[in-house]
Amino acid sequence: MFYIEKLKLTNFRCYKDKRINFKPHVNIIVGENAVGKTSLVEAIYCLGLTKSYKASKDSFLIKHDQPFYVLEGEFVNQERKHNVLLSYEIDKSRKRLLVDNNVVKKLSDYIGTFKVVMFSPDDSELIKGYSPQRRRFLDIYLGQINNKYLKDLSNYNKVLKNRNELLKQTNQSEQDLELLKIYSEALVKYGKNLIIEREKFINMLNPEVAKISLAISNGEEKTELKYMPNVENEEFMLKTFRQLKKDLYLQTTGLGPHKDDFLFTIKGVDAASFASQGQQRTSSIALKLGLASLFDKLGLDNIVILDDVFSELDKERQNEIMKLFKNNKQIFITTTTIKAINEELLESSNVIKIEREEKDE
Ligand SMILES: Nc1ncnc2c1ncn2[C@@H]1O[C@H](COP(=O)(O)OP(=O)(O)OP(=O)(O)O)[C@@H](O)[C@H]1O
Ligand SMILES: [Mg+2]
Repeated sequence: MFYIEKLKLTNFRCYKDKRINFKPHVNIIVGENAVGKTSLVEAIYCLGLTKSYKASKDSFLIKHDQPFYVLEGEFVNQERKHNVLLSYEIDKSRKRLLVDNNVVKKLSDYIGTFKVVMFSPDDSELIKGYSPQRRRFLDIYLGQINNKYLKDLSNYNKVLKNRNELLKQTNQSEQDLELLKIYSEALVKYGKNLIIEREKFINMLNPEVAKISLAISNGEEKTELKYMPNVENEEFMLKTFRQLKKDLYLQTTGLGPHKDDFLFTIKGVDAASFASQGQQRTSSIALKLGLASLFDKLGLDNIVILDDVFSELDKERQNEIMKLFKNNKQIFITTTTIKAINEELLESSNVIKIEREEKDE
């Protein structure tokens, strides 16, 4: 079994100094609006992913007018305890990660050690929003299960940056053009790995999402994913070289997985164009629950966080969701009222009440 047992937040979001203990199974975090429920689960996410899913800068995570934040988590994995400390200091722009008191130099080496699958109310935007959000989704979750993917991604992004810089120069020399050729080859090499892994991942995820979407919509609304690579693997090299003149003219790399996308269909119809708000919500929930189910299937222990999802699902659907999880799994559920939660679930859960006055103690 894998779970987080203890969490300490210092100057993180609305928390000045808070310690909190969790139970291995279901933890329900209850409190009024703006008391800090999301901040609490965001902290757990940050300990797993080394950054937030919503703050674009680490400085946003620091409590207002404070110089730093520190998060400390105690994880239990196969009965062994591990400490993770993540901190960020604003004046030095310094981020630090310590695992069992050892400094981790490259954060990407750590990603995937403690896996977290998180549903956030903003997830509905994944369906109708812009493609960068969907690529981010792929990178976050594929990155947690495949460290080589993260390395390929980092190399790809470096090459892309160099190539774009070179394309932006005016009057490239012979040497520059030679270098451009080398960059193009590297771009295709790393890019192909990304395309292969993304395709595999979506193919694995798809049946899980389909199954769960049916389970939470009375068998009515099947959600499926379709990978839309910007360029097919077999044509990537040829097209990149054919496109060179255009790239030089437009001063940017027009082709490659940095422009990939995937789309959602509900009952076979494109969800971005036709899905109602409720349908978007159901599909985005199915996406994250499908992920957790895939991780489980692959034998990859993970913590599931459901921020503000249960309160909007009727008790029957909550039941359907809980049936999807194995018993030996840690799940966090946030809600403003426990009245909305299925009684049976409530009885077997650890309920954590967050009070308003606690946050500024
Ligand atoms: N960096 C920060 N410093 C101080 N306070 C912050 C910071 N970031 C967010 N907050 C505040 O923390 C409070 C708690 O926010 P949070 O999103 O955790 O609430 P919540 O309990 O999830 O509320 P809701 O039920 O509305 O989702 C809010 O008042 C928010 O404005
Ligand atoms: Mg919230």
